[in-house]
Amino acid sequence: MTDNPRPRAATSRKSSALSGRGRVPGDKSISHRAFMFGGLAAGETRVTGLLQGEDVLRTGEAMKAMGARVERQGAAWIIQGTGNGCLLEPEGPLDFGNAGTGVRLTIGLVGTYDMTTRFVGDTSLSRRPMGRVLDPLRQMGTQVVEAQAGDRLPITLRGPKHAAPITYRVPMPSAQVKSAVLLAGLNTPGVTTVVEPVMTRDHTEKMLLGFGAALEVKTDPEGVRHIRLEGQGTLKGQEIAVPGDPSSAAFPLVATLIVPGSDVVIENVLMNPTRTGLILTLQEMGADIEPMNRRASGGEEVADLRVRSSHLKGVAVPAERAPFMIDEYPVLAVAASFAEGETLMQGLEELRVKESDRLAAVAAGLKANGVDCTEGEATLAVRGRPEGKGLGGATVETHLDHRIAMSFLVMGLATEKPVTIDDETMIATSFPEFMALMRGLGAEIETVEEAV
Ligand code: S3P
Repeated sequence: MTDNPRPRAATSRKSSALSGRGRVPGDKSISHRAFMFGGLAAGETRVTGLLQGEDVLRTGEAMKAMGARVERQGAAWIIQGTGNGCLLEPEGPLDFGNAGTGVRLTIGLVGTYDMTTRFVGDTSLSRRPMGRVLDPLRQMGTQVVEAQAGDRLPITLRGPKHAAPITYRVPMPSAQVKSAVLLAGLNTPGVTTVVEPVMTRDHTEKMLLGFGAALEVKTDPEGVRHIRLEGQGTLKGQEIAVPGDPSSAAFPLVATLIVPGSDVVIENVLMNPTRTGLILTLQEMGADIEPMNRRASGGEEVADLRVRSSHLKGVAVPAERAPFMIDEYPVLAVAASFAEGETLMQGLEELRVKESDRLAAVAAGLKANGVDCTEGEATLAVRGRPEGKGLGGATVETHLDHRIAMSFLVMGLATEKPVTIDDETMIATSFPEFMALMRGLGAEIETVEEAV
């Protein structure tokens, strides 16, 4: 198991109006895939705007360990791929640290190779279920040589001589599972089909098409997506400009909404419709968010978001929207804590298997800071207190979860009393620039060297 760094506490306090312009780092989902597909494709892939967070860099290391050449040249990353079907057996275990996307997609990618690969991760990742990607691989002929109870890391896989193509209906709304099966299909003869009853983020489909994969998506009259991939084709290196991560933009965005008098522009944010559920929900709550300068970049739409602090009202967020904002519920719950009335979030079962049990972690952090909320099996109801009167004053347990850490630091910018988090070190997995960006906008956040 990877060791986590020594914890470092941080406190945020009531700040005066936030202002200015900021840029969030590259999208995490696209950055992982840029390293993976670039490392696999024949020829050179050049990536700009890559998220240089710990999670993504681990994926780069894994691809290097399997034969790709990966190097940084100024602002760009240059990758020389092995060619599809030509990954090499890594000499040691692949260590994914905190990264669920990195490990689940790579398990798919190498699972159909006739080689032995061992996967390890940190305490948080070692608690997360991997059966959801191992099950389809077992059907394709992959042998799970080693796994801990409940199909958890460390895991060792041995791929088959010839993998069997399958048709797999994804049992939960998960882009990671969909992607793992498609990536396994890249090294499988014939057609691998993923049936996706509930659409999730579509970066794998879009990017594989860009790399030249023979992939086809059809949506049937019931709205079910059928994704067919012809295996063992050629993938060719690409130029990739990674847009800003909407899941990271969510933090300065909500901070601006809840700190009175604020006016901020967040530049170059990915506006892929499978990722904009939070913006839509906040707008329904009365948020003043104006996407400006909409433009195409790297096969995706991006925009600059002008955000002004707003009087928010509680809404019921439909369960069907959950896949389009799955990583944003912690920070939405923070926004809801300052809204008038109740915000009801539904369809949250997947939140229980993220970097932490996010539903429990959010509810506990809100309650500790005086927010009236109710946690259900797959729901969260938050009854807000506009202006944050009487809120704050407690320390939140982050459970090695970057989004819990950032959400509660945002909360403390508008509560009456400061909010402390027990550890901020894991923020570097997805948003290393978080503290600098937030302070640059005027947020009062300080780190405390000793763990609380
Ligand atoms: C991701 C998919 C989502 C999301 C994660 C990134 C991806 O996970 O939570 O942060 O890049 O495919 P699930 O597929 O488990 O919902």
